[in-house]
Amino acid sequence: MNLPSNLLPAYSLSQRNTLGFEVEAEFAIHITEAKQIAETLVYAKDHNMPYQVLGGGSNVVLPSALPGLTLLMDIAGIEIVSEDANGVSLKVGAGVSWHSLVIWTLEHSYPGLENLALIPGTVGAAPIQNIGAYGVEINDYINSVEAFDSQAMQWITLDRAHCQFSYRHSLFKANPLRYIISAVNLYLPKQWQPRISYVDLQHFFAGKENDSITPLAIFEAVCEIRTQKLPDPKQIGNVGSFFQNPIVENSMLAKLKQRHPAIVAYPEDTNHSKLAAGWLIDHCGFKGLRTGNVGVHDKQALVLIHHGGGNANELLQLAERIQKTISEQFEIDLQVEPIIFNA
Ligand code: EPU
Repeated sequence: MNLPSNLLPAYSLSQRNTLGFEVEAEFAIHITEAKQIAETLVYAKDHNMPYQVLGGGSNVVLPSALPGLTLLMDIAGIEIVSEDANGVSLKVGAGVSWHSLVIWTLEHSYPGLENLALIPGTVGAAPIQNIGAYGVEINDYINSVEAFDSQAMQWITLDRAHCQFSYRHSLFKANPLRYIISAVNLYLPKQWQPRISYVDLQHFFAGKENDSITPLAIFEAVCEIRTQKLPDPKQIGNVGSFFQNPIVENSMLAKLKQRHPAIVAYPEDTNHSKLAAGWLIDHCGFKGLRTGNVGVHDKQALVLIHHGGGNANELLQLAERIQKTISEQFEIDLQVEPIIFNA
């Protein structure tokens, strides 16, 4: 096979997955401009090669060997498309780091994203799992998503309504590999209200003057809370929450509460509640467990960690063990939250 010069054979992804697994891509390519996506997909299809897309690698579980072509999404750029008294429209390249975007918006006095501070990963990955934290989800701010549709082999702009956003889910997650996101268009309204109803933020700001609750103060609070609870991937491999918080009918919650009065749940809609999966896992005694090279974080049971020298199989075995126990104890099926790549 005649390889284009920018294809990198036997490329190590060890620095590009926050679990810190030793991973080798058969071929990798740095995508720095949108048009390269189309070119690369034409090449992959012509040569019958499987392909996958990697942003920051902060929400994926990668096998030791990734066959085919791995697109490393490195498209940069934050562009102010339009601005008026009501708000600002931004076009952000898929490869921009999410946290650096949050900082950029606050530096430019465009508040809104402060509750989403310190979420690892890239802007292009954010819509896929509809990132959310402390009462805010990214879909609240998405105007549209620009992507290459690898099925129709054409560019498409999907407005927010077409992205099918829900809790940690979207059209993109439901159709893996179909839409390769090149840019995300955000709209940040200038009218701002603090969102601190989430219990950790309530505690943080308890007794503080209303005037002191600024976007920057919330940003700093979120950074502090996250740093306390969630392990830094630079120090210990992880992908944040490993399971979704399960949504159950209120009748089911009532039954569970009879047996487990301390169970933690939040109202989701009139008939459903969201359970804190971290509580369920903690309650089953997994918090702080270590087995081989993997384990459960000792400050947040929803986070699985990699101590070094492990691999995806080992981590997924631990995940299955947790799922089995939760199913036996609570009759609840925990769904894995990160995307599992096939070998
Ligand atoms: N809890 C325990 N034991 C634990 C962990 C949690 O009892 O080991 C209970 C506590 O009562 C706690 C409650 O569960 O108050 C909820 O925990 P936390 O506030 O840490 O939030 P979470 O529901 O576990 C979700 C997101 C996080 C996000 C936080 C803050 C999911 C799957 N996870 O976690 O997102 O940062 O809320 O909004 O929805 C991520 O997706 O990677 C992520 C870190």
